[in-house]
Parts: sequence; C-alpha cells; structure tokens
Amino acid sequence: MNHKTIIEPFRIKVVEHIKMTTEAEREAFLKNAAYNPFLLHSTEVIVDLLTDSGTSAMSSNQWAGIMQGDESYAGATSWLKMEAAIKDLTGCPYILPTHQGRAAEHLLYSRIGGKGKVFFSNTHFDTTRANIEFSGAEAIDLPVPEAKQPELELPFKGNLDIAKLEENISKHGKENVAAVILTVTNNSGGGQPVSMANARAVSELCKQNGILFILDACRVAENAWYIRHREEGFYEKTYRQIAQEMFALADGCIMSAKKDALVNMGGFLALKNLDLAILCRTVLIITEGYSTYGGLSGRDMEAIAQGLMEVFEPDYLDYRIKSTAYLGNALTKLGIPVIRPIGGHAVYVDAKQFYHHIPPEQFPGQALVCQLYLKGGIRSCEIGSVMFGKYDEAGKLIPAPMELVRLAIPRRVYTQSHIDYVIETFEMLLDDREAARGFKIVYEPPFLRHFTARFTPVS
Ligand code: F0G
Repeated sequence: MNHKTIIEPFRIKVVEHIKMTTEAEREAFLKNAAYNPFLLHSTEVIVDLLTDSGTSAMSSNQWAGIMQGDESYAGATSWLKMEAAIKDLTGCPYILPTHQGRAAEHLLYSRIGGKGKVFFSNTHFDTTRANIEFSGAEAIDLPVPEAKQPELELPFKGNLDIAKLEENISKHGKENVAAVILTVTNNSGGGQPVSMANARAVSELCKQNGILFILDACRVAENAWYIRHREEGFYEKTYRQIAQEMFALADGCIMSAKKDALVNMGGFLALKNLDLAILCRTVLIITEGYSTYGGLSGRDMEAIAQGLMEVFEPDYLDYRIKSTAYLGNALTKLGIPVIRPIGGHAVYVDAKQFYHHIPPEQFPGQALVCQLYLKGGIRSCEIGSVMFGKYDEAGKLIPAPMELVRLAIPRRVYTQSHIDYVIETFEMLLDDREAARGFKIVYEPPFLRHFTARFTPVS
C-alpha cells in the first residue's frame, strides 16, 4: 500500500514568524489598502498565495553558495557557474543575466518589437504583453480553444493553437512577426502545461517561415513533469532531459529565475544567434549592468546555478505537482469551481461561476480576493478583468475572457496544514456566498493597473 499523505521532501532549518490577525483587524487593513491586496503589508497576511515568484525557500546548499558569492565586477566565478548551468540546460551559447524576467523581456522585445510588429503566444504573461505593447508592437494570444473551458479535463490545455498560428502568420505577413513565444507552463491560461508535440509544431512552423521562436521558460521544470507523466514516449527520460529537448526546439529563451530556479531574485535571456545577442547586450549594459552580472550580485548567481540543479530532482517535482493538486482537488470536492486539471504552480478559481451574482463590470475576482483575505488573511491574485480588461472607445469595459483568482503556491514554503487552513477558509466563503459584493475602480494607471489600482465596494 502507498501512503496517502504527500510529505514535504525537506526538513525545516530556519523558520519565519507569521503574525496572526483577527477579521476586524483585516477589515481595516483591507480598507487601508484600497481593496487591492498588492497594497497590503506582508505582515498583515497569514498565508501569502499572491505569487510563486521570488517567494521560494532556498536550500541549505543554496545558502552555502551565497557565502561563496564572488562579487567581482567582471568575470566572477559565480557568473561562470551560472553561465555554465544555463548553457548546459538551454543549449544556448549566449547568456545575458538580468535582475528578473521582465528585464530580459525588455532587452529582447524592445529590440525586435516596435510599431507594425506582431507577437504570437499561447498566452502572453502580463509583463510580456506590457513590454511588447510598450515597444509599439501588438501581442496576440492564440491558446487552444479548450483552454477557455475550465471544467474540461485534458492533459495539455496550455498548448498554442497551431492552425490559428498558421492563419495569423499569413494574415499579418511573416516579415511582420517579431517572434512566437511559448509560455511553459501557461501561467495566465491557468498554469496548464504545453506538450512537446506542440512545441515541436511551433518550432517547425517558425523555421519554415523564418520566425524567431522564444520559450518563456520560467516554469519549464514543472512543465517537464507533465510531459513525462502525460505524453507518450517520455517516461524513461529525466525531467532535465525533457526540458533540454524543449529548449533545443527554440531559438532562445527568457527565464524568470524567481520561479523554477528556486531563488528570490534573478533572470536571464539566452540566445542562439550572436547578432541578436550583441544587439540585446547593448541594452543590457545600459539598463541592467555589465554583461557578466546584469542586475545580479555574485551570491544571487551562485543560488541560481544551484537552484537550476535542485528543481529537476524527481522527489521535489513530484511533491511540487502533487501538493498543488492536493489543494485543487480538495476545492473541487467542496464544489468550488476551479480550472481543471490542476496546474503546477497554482490553483485557479473561476470567480465568475463562484460569485455568479457579481457581473464582470464589478470584478467578481476582486470580490473573491477580498473575501479570502477578510476570512482567512489569505492573499491571492485576481487574473481577470482587473488584470486584462480593456475599454472600448466609449469607455465601457471589455471584460477578460475569464474571471479567475490565482492561489499561487510558493516553492518549499508552506506545509500541508497551511493548505488545509486555506481549504477551511473556502468552506467559510461557501456559507455566505450571496453576501459578497463587487467593486468599482477609483484609480488606475495606464499600464499593469492591477498592481496599483484602488477600489471601492459597490453598495
Ligand atoms: N513570464 C511569466 C510566464 C511569468 O509568470 C512572469 C512572472 C514573468 C514572465 C516575468 O518575470 O516577475 O521575474 O519579471 N510572473 C510572476 C507571477 C510575477 O506572479 O506569475 P519576473
């Protein structure tokens, strides 16, 4: 008989205090944060599921590496270690270190973007879209149609729609396509994986048309778990070999090391083409730092090199994927509508269905985010019309296709009892579902409004 309980494959050596709060205290904190959890202080939060980005607990080996950090301006040994680890993983000869993923996006997309250019992706993450649009180019999402059906159980709902990609390349003209970006796993589309077959098809189409193919690889190890377990012909391969096979299909990649490199800060751009690398390196030196550290300290680079090894350990990945599914499956059992199957780094609740009495114009996702905080001190993130909604010419909201709330699980941070507490909080929300109210935006900036928007409850 196998054990039912998924135990964390690590012991805790250092602990971080969590301050407990009452519902009355949280009500005041939330009002003060203009009903936007991004504006809360972290000490006001009990279980922080805002993001899995930069929130990992590092291992004792990573901390040991930190002490070995070589802080030389040029050619530091820590840089050489990080560069070697990334070259070996991605097969790319040109590595540009950055302080995080979006800086790498800026280096590349500001060079190859611009007015008249178009990018295609299974789904552009919000900073990816913002970097592309900021350059003057257009970002078009081409997810497979089943990605929009939350309850459908299919193995690779993160895939890019190949027929649509072909159609769009003809429509826009291949000379105007700056790149195709495959985001693995597809974060904004529910954390769903992309199959190797899909990556292969994208690669072939890009090669035929002379289009650059970039992997947004920040969760590539988690994606590899799904390929090994769900796609035929991969079970005998290691997770690392699967990731390497995917990198081999692309012309380069962008990685936020804050996810699957198990560190708190860092990122990189890796390229196969020298001319493009030189073009981007100029911006790197102007905006990030010298080319052998980018925006990073030597100690950060040590931790990244080590993290990129640890993340492919089978026990870790097994625990990671199964413990996220534990939360998602428990919510499903309670009757909470979640995107199925459960993704690797987060559980996505369908707030449109959960709060069906709140119309998209009143942001049902924001309502759920606020209720989770009030009842449990849990911080989560709206991925719906606050994040992706647009306005038409008359100023009317064009809602996002889905109103989701993401419960992102930091890597190696919370134990099963924290997750059981989250499940209990949902049970409480079920009891007075109809009492939840929508919100109105009272302030928003022109780009990435979800970070700083201010809200007021609709009375
Ligand atoms: N690409 C994807 C798919 C991401 O999920 C993120 C960040 C980035 C790029 C940008 O990387 O934060 O290092 O600049 N995602 C975080 C999240 C913020 O919460 O999902 P970054």
